[in-house]
Amino acid sequence: MGDKLPVTDKQISNSPEDDNDIVDPWTVISKSDAGVDYDKLIKRFGCTYIDSELIERIERISKTPIHPLIKRGIFFSHRDLHALLNMVEAGKKFYLYTGRGPSSDSMHVGHLIPFIVTKWLQEAFDVPLVIQMTDDEKTLWKNLSVEETMKMARENAKDIIALGFDVNKTFIFSNLDYMGRCAAFYQNVIRIQKCVTFNQVKGIFGFCDSDVIGKISFPAIQAAPAFSSTFPFIFGADKVPVLIPCAIDQDPYFRMTRDVSPRLGFIKPALIHSCFFPALQGAKTKMSASDVNSAVFLTDTPKQIKTKINKYAFSGGRSTLEEHRKYGGNIDVDVSYQLLRFFLYDDEKLESIKTAYANGELLSGEMKKIAVETLQPIVADHQTKRKEVTDEILNQFMTPRKLNYDFQTVIY
Ligand code: TRP
Repeated sequence: MGDKLPVTDKQISNSPEDDNDIVDPWTVISKSDAGVDYDKLIKRFGCTYIDSELIERIERISKTPIHPLIKRGIFFSHRDLHALLNMVEAGKKFYLYTGRGPSSDSMHVGHLIPFIVTKWLQEAFDVPLVIQMTDDEKTLWKNLSVEETMKMARENAKDIIALGFDVNKTFIFSNLDYMGRCAAFYQNVIRIQKCVTFNQVKGIFGFCDSDVIGKISFPAIQAAPAFSSTFPFIFGADKVPVLIPCAIDQDPYFRMTRDVSPRLGFIKPALIHSCFFPALQGAKTKMSASDVNSAVFLTDTPKQIKTKINKYAFSGGRSTLEEHRKYGGNIDVDVSYQLLRFFLYDDEKLESIKTAYANGELLSGEMKKIAVETLQPIVADHQTKRKEVTDEILNQFMTPRKLNYDFQTVIY
């Protein structure tokens, strides 16, 4: 088993006395069956909705039709994306940075969402990508040893690679490995740690006096890859702007990062945020790898997927057939329908399913069947692709090396 963790006081990063949903990097609990109130969250966090004008601008500049996950408002919020696009229009290249906290050997379908959009962005803008595996974070927060999380980082990286990332354009690193190999990474971590006080991280993350010191200093480690000098073998001496796709619960890390950027002479990172992927039991909370029944895993068999969705997927259907036919189902809380919003990219089909359910023609069991039949081939296909990711391929992705871009020659 893992290293023993000291008992800490309860995290207090969200004040439960107001009626806010709880959203921080470790907890997502909403007050409503329909999930987190994103209008409120955007105001509280101080970020901006992605509107149709911004979408058109992304399409115009990238010359690529927008990804359905952005069009459908699943990636719904941003920081400084217009500023980043201004730089792109002025001829500058940026890079993408995203990450994954490996807390189980297998990822679930919801974990794919940020990586699907990251891949789309990488192809649309033809930019390099760095992916941080925060095995250090997971050993600090969970009952898992250094060895266990390092192994999980490699397993999870294989799932990420299976989505089809280009090895010539992508660098994946485990913090527990890369930090010991690259002085530039640690130097940036220290630069950041020198800019942030304990009081500030307490305010941002809710740390308290009895939290282990590793937690308190960890945010600097998640911040460092947002500075291009953390990767000298990719970017040389150039200061390259970054775009970070992430779920909105990661925003506190990057508020802190944006705060310290100007002091360290870096451009503030731009961000694009997704909403949460609902647990099967309902959108009050997000799908979690630590709760087997809350999630459809990438290792599940077709039968397991069917059983889980039939048994656990929260239904927006009415209690009797007559009522359902008369009043229709509630798509806002129906998890099977929500799954389709994330994974069924045929807009017309999705719209007709939504209408049929809302007016009572389509029953809850039928909705579940559509969700099952949509997810089964996606998961099976993923499993086939993942089998092709050998240790050798993984090692290539995880080797610090020059990528297919010549940053020294880019003029800033
Ligand atoms: N903390 C994230 C998690 O637990 C992992 C992560 C590291 C990340 N860097 C990131 C996520 C950048 C998004 C963007 O999953």
